[in-house]
Amino acid sequence: MSIALVILAAGKGTRMQSDLPKVLHKLAGAPLLAHAMQSGAALDPEHTVIVAGHGADAVTAAAQDHHPEARVVLQTEQLGTAHAVAQARTALEGFSGDVIVLYGDTPFISEDTLLKMLDARARADVVVLGFEANDPGRYGRLVTDGASLTRIVEFKDASEAERAITLCNSGVVCADADTLFDLIDAVGNDNASGEYYLTDIVAIARERGLNATAVTCDEGETLGINSRPELAAAEAAFQTRRRAELIEDGVVMQAPDTVILAFDTVIGNGAEVEPYVVFAPGVTVESGARIRAFSHLEGAHVSQGAIVGPYARLRPGTELDDNVRVGNFVEVKNAHLHEGAKANHLSYIGDAEVGAAANIGAGTITCNYDGVMKHRTTIGARAFIGSNTMLVAPVAVGTEALTGSGSVITQDVPDGALAIARAQQQTKPGLARKLVEMLKAKKAKQKKEAS
Ligand code: UD1
Ligand code: MG
Repeated sequence: MSIALVILAAGKGTRMQSDLPKVLHKLAGAPLLAHAMQSGAALDPEHTVIVAGHGADAVTAAAQDHHPEARVVLQTEQLGTAHAVAQARTALEGFSGDVIVLYGDTPFISEDTLLKMLDARARADVVVLGFEANDPGRYGRLVTDGASLTRIVEFKDASEAERAITLCNSGVVCADADTLFDLIDAVGNDNASGEYYLTDIVAIARERGLNATAVTCDEGETLGINSRPELAAAEAAFQTRRRAELIEDGVVMQAPDTVILAFDTVIGNGAEVEPYVVFAPGVTVESGARIRAFSHLEGAHVSQGAIVGPYARLRPGTELDDNVRVGNFVEVKNAHLHEGAKANHLSYIGDAEVGAAANIGAGTITCNYDGVMKHRTTIGARAFIGSNTMLVAPVAVGTEALTGSGSVITQDVPDGALAIARAQQQTKPGLARKLVEMLKAKKAKQKKEAS
């Protein structure tokens, strides 16, 4: 059965106290919207339609950045959730599978839960995702009759008896496309909010002799973000869950609470992550690698046996092959360090290719930027770059070549050659003592004149 996702993301999110549309606030390094899209992506949807309103241009850019095929439709006025879903109708013209409606501000719905909903579609025309709420608050309530769902009543419209129901509506709904849009056509706005409620489709379906049912999930999955404190709580929940999963899978962490993960961080079993490490998006660490304390990684691939840090920074485009060493206060960007290469101390390696087993001395800098353009540095296998070498790119240092400490290398160095590019040392016997005596005498004279 083919699936279409409709993700509601038109709301303003007033309580976020921000100009940024609510669904673009980040959780674990990705916009909330991307998390919702990710939940649905597990079903391999044929269509993904985002309903945008507030900040639609930014929402469109983020949606397409995450999933280039996503379609964005506009809801210019937020007249309610049914009205929002109706905006997706044209985009889904001719589609005849099941539609799953998700909210862009609800990041934790799991793949298993969505699969359970699809299973339930075999028994019911409309499937709604519910949850047993600890504090049902202002959620819509699910009115059931045995296994079937009779209707959903919004808090504002509910009677005392209905408000006592603890089975609540998550907002996630699944129905076949034609049925869904037919039902939505019949939704009115004669209710306490004057809105077109998507939840009304359940009662309308029942009136038409169709059946509806509820599938339940853990309340944690249905957590929606409406405010900064809720976003912070969701971030904490994400981090706790993801750390626990990684540890379960065999990643070693001494102080997991201090390790910050991104939505897409991949760490192989047996890899070790020391305290206070931050993973921004796009990082893969292979089994057996070690990320030492206080390192920051983004857009980087770290292979087996490599050791990074302490205090290292890996920026996007970093590729570290097996057994590479990147030590303290070393920054690497858009660079490939081949097997066994070492940059152990205080270096900047940017836009570079570093050959296998090459050794980069302390303080080495690839001078990759001339103020206008970026240039590449190439270092051959087993080359030895002396401490404090400035490699002024574009420049190439050959296989097994060597640069003298403190050199400013502006020309290519052939394989096996030694390049020294620094001023000649001059040594003047006895001159140090003589100089000190001169200076002392000068100081004494000044003191005498001042008194
Ligand atoms: C909705 C449900 C309620 C459920 C709750 C779960 C309805 C009528 N009510 O209520 O039963 O318990 O979610 O959180 O569906 N949106 C649009 N366009 C609109 C209106 C909303 O895109 O015109 C989007 C919002 O941005 C949000 C989502 O739909 O992502 C839900 O809207 P919201 O206003 O939060 O609905 P609730 O009142 O919370
Ligand atoms: Mg809400």
